[in-house]
Amino acid sequence: MSDAYYVTTPIYYVNADLHIGGAYTTLAADVLARYNRLKGKETMFLTGSDEHGQKIEQAAREQGISPKELADRIVAGFKEVWEFLEITNDDFIRTTDPRHEATVQAFFKLLIDKGDIYKGVYSGLYCVPCERYLKQSDLVEGNCPVCRRQPSTLDEENYFFRMSAYQDAIRRHYEENPDFVEPQSRRNEVLSRIRMGLEDVSVSRSTFTWGVPMPGDSKHIVWVWFDALINYISALGWPEDREKFDTFWPQAVHLVGKDIIWFHCVIWPCMLLAAGLTPPKKIFAHGWWTIDGKKISKSAGTVVYPRDVVEKYGLDQFRYFMLREIPFGADGDFSFKALTGRINSDLADDLGNLLSRTLAMVSKYFNNSVPEPADEAGAELREMASGLLAAIDAELEHLAFSRALDRIWELIRRCNKFIEDEKPWLLKKKGDTAKLGGVLYVLLESLRIVSWAIEPVMPASALEIRRQLGIPDEKGVLSELMTWGHLKPGTSINRGDSLFPKVEQ
Ligand code: MSP
Repeated sequence: MSDAYYVTTPIYYVNADLHIGGAYTTLAADVLARYNRLKGKETMFLTGSDEHGQKIEQAAREQGISPKELADRIVAGFKEVWEFLEITNDDFIRTTDPRHEATVQAFFKLLIDKGDIYKGVYSGLYCVPCERYLKQSDLVEGNCPVCRRQPSTLDEENYFFRMSAYQDAIRRHYEENPDFVEPQSRRNEVLSRIRMGLEDVSVSRSTFTWGVPMPGDSKHIVWVWFDALINYISALGWPEDREKFDTFWPQAVHLVGKDIIWFHCVIWPCMLLAAGLTPPKKIFAHGWWTIDGKKISKSAGTVVYPRDVVEKYGLDQFRYFMLREIPFGADGDFSFKALTGRINSDLADDLGNLLSRTLAMVSKYFNNSVPEPADEAGAELREMASGLLAAIDAELEHLAFSRALDRIWELIRRCNKFIEDEKPWLLKKKGDTAKLGGVLYVLLESLRIVSWAIEPVMPASALEIRRQLGIPDEKGVLSELMTWGHLKPGTSINRGDSLFPKVEQ
């Protein structure tokens, strides 16, 4: 197993502020990055902004500013959102960064030299909001199948990428790497389209100027998707920084929304194969959020911004909800009713309550000091807690965040049931102090393990649990931290405020 890990998000268009749908991919990537760092892996987590193209040029013109001014303003907003969501990206790539533009030109030049780029004419449809070429047969009621807006007609001299030449190679790559694209349903969908045949794709534009100039023909700029996809390797310093590239590229995991799988799962791997590079290790396509059952749309008023949720309900609450509520890969609905329901049941009733009642008993029966373990107490819980990391690993291997959280909550709920079954207050009454201490030790140690299990999703709450357990400075790698028995008897606990106050529905 390699000890490097590389996770990316799509780079976001700079024509609008980020809503919860856009923040979703980055939150998921942040959880994976934090998790892999905690496992001791050398981790690189990349996000960024997609700044070129006709859509951005038009948006800037409508606002009477230059595209770069628009990009600078929106990017400042993106960075603010990432900061208050406590996103731990290691780099932020902008497609207007000189380092990126140089990589795009080097990549394009390589393909020209290989004979995979040729001049032609594109006469056909183009969706500006999606920046994609469309065929008549793609249209739904005359509109773009993704954004449902009317496409424009182009008739331009363009350069084409000989994608058809990579049809067999990409098909073989899919067949030899069954987990290359997940979920499997998406993989099958893409693979069957590949089997139907790949056409060459236009990769330059010549009727406007906001883009990376094409090497060798300054009348053309590079098509914005060809430009944008290269961000995943320009941030690794390709082609100059071989060491960084060789460390991280073989481990690359791209998280993308289901709307952009054709670009990521077909065009991008073909581009890489043409350049003599290997495709990424995995591409995972997640579903789309609606709000109260409606498509997220600023103009229709169905939009929720992360800051509004976080300010009212708390950061960890938001992070937990987004990853727990719907299986990664499926579509799902955001509603304040569902959010407050999860906060009150999973967070307040299950986890918060477990911590406060356990600490209250340690305070009352053992004067705020962690009691000695006892062999006979809670063998089943000990086993569950000891197996928790392996259970989470198995789920996160397939990016099943929701199921991984479910495994953690199984332990939390079992702990609450253990209290009901063991009735520590009766043990106290009977004077069975050794068993009483043993029961409480099992609960405290389970809580410590739970705190590490939730750390990538809810870092502040995880630390607060450990602070209340009296071990705020515990550090290390997960394989050690989640091993049973680290909590030392005699440690002074620090009871604090309730971890997750209940909220009004
Ligand atoms: N710029 C391109 C990506 C280029 S990557 C080389 C782009 N940008 S975007 O800003 O339109 O979208 C960024 C991501 O946000 C996409 O993965 C998209 O699927 C995701 N989402 C946008 N709205 C969403 C929801 N309502 N729900 C979930 N994800 C959503 O595409």
